[in-house]
Amino acid sequence: MIITDNIQEVRAARWRDAADWGFVPTMGYLHAGHLALVAEAKANNEHVAVSIYVNPTQFAPDEDLSTYPRDMERDLELLRAAGVDLVFTPSDEVMYPAGFQTSVLVKGVTQMLEGASRPTHFEGVTTVVTKLLNIVQPTRAYFGQKDAQQTIVVRRMVQDLNINSEIVIIPTMREADGLAMSSRNKYLDEQQRALAPVLRQSLLAAEKALNAGERDAIVIRALIYRMIAADPLPEIDYISVADPTTLAELDEIEDGALLSLAIFFGKTRLIDNLIWKNA
Ligand code: PAF
Repeated sequence: MIITDNIQEVRAARWRDAADWGFVPTMGYLHAGHLALVAEAKANNEHVAVSIYVNPTQFAPDEDLSTYPRDMERDLELLRAAGVDLVFTPSDEVMYPAGFQTSVLVKGVTQMLEGASRPTHFEGVTTVVTKLLNIVQPTRAYFGQKDAQQTIVVRRMVQDLNINSEIVIIPTMREADGLAMSSRNKYLDEQQRALAPVLRQSLLAAEKALNAGERDAIVIRALIYRMIAADPLPEIDYISVADPTTLAELDEIEDGALLSLAIFFGKTRLIDNLIWKNA
């Protein structure tokens, strides 16, 4: 497994032959969700590259950049065991050298939900993902459904900028009690961790109501709200029932609607989502 922080070395490995490369961009502290992306990349490409880079530009000044969990040694072990060919571990100087002054801004679909709560977040994501895709030039790049809006934003950007990589989205991996896997789960204390599955439970209750024929988005948002607010600990950031392409809030729920929510447990902000399929 090649481990490098050098862009030329990544390009040389990638273009040694014209084989298909799958690419999994990560911020490290890997869990089973990341490894599911790697497994899918391995199943559908001859080679797999992973990046480990905690991208500072997607964190607001009051967010958790300095405390974001890191464990490079363990991450590299896991990736070696998973049969990854190349790991790109750039420094900030490699990604944002002196004089850097460009950014990639996707407009409409970055404005709401995560973008409303974290106004500088997506510009950081789209800038770094563009750079990573330009550096690795993968055939396919893999993202998790847990960050639903990120998948929509990245797809929009790749289409708009004619980036020559296919974007593949992989279902969310979950703990046994339904909590979506996330590097940030480690911040939860015992009481918060015990309550955190309510995100998933509220989405499943909403799905049940939809399957039973409810179509009014106000009713569905209220149902989710009541389940989350039943305990005083979780603090609701947003509850959304939106069009899966434009992210516009819906009045009448249709097949494929994106139900999503962001909830604070203390300082830890958890997100989850469900795409409703009309069976
Ligand atoms: O989803 C993430 O971990 C990050 O947003 C990404 C795509 C690696 C960009 O830093």
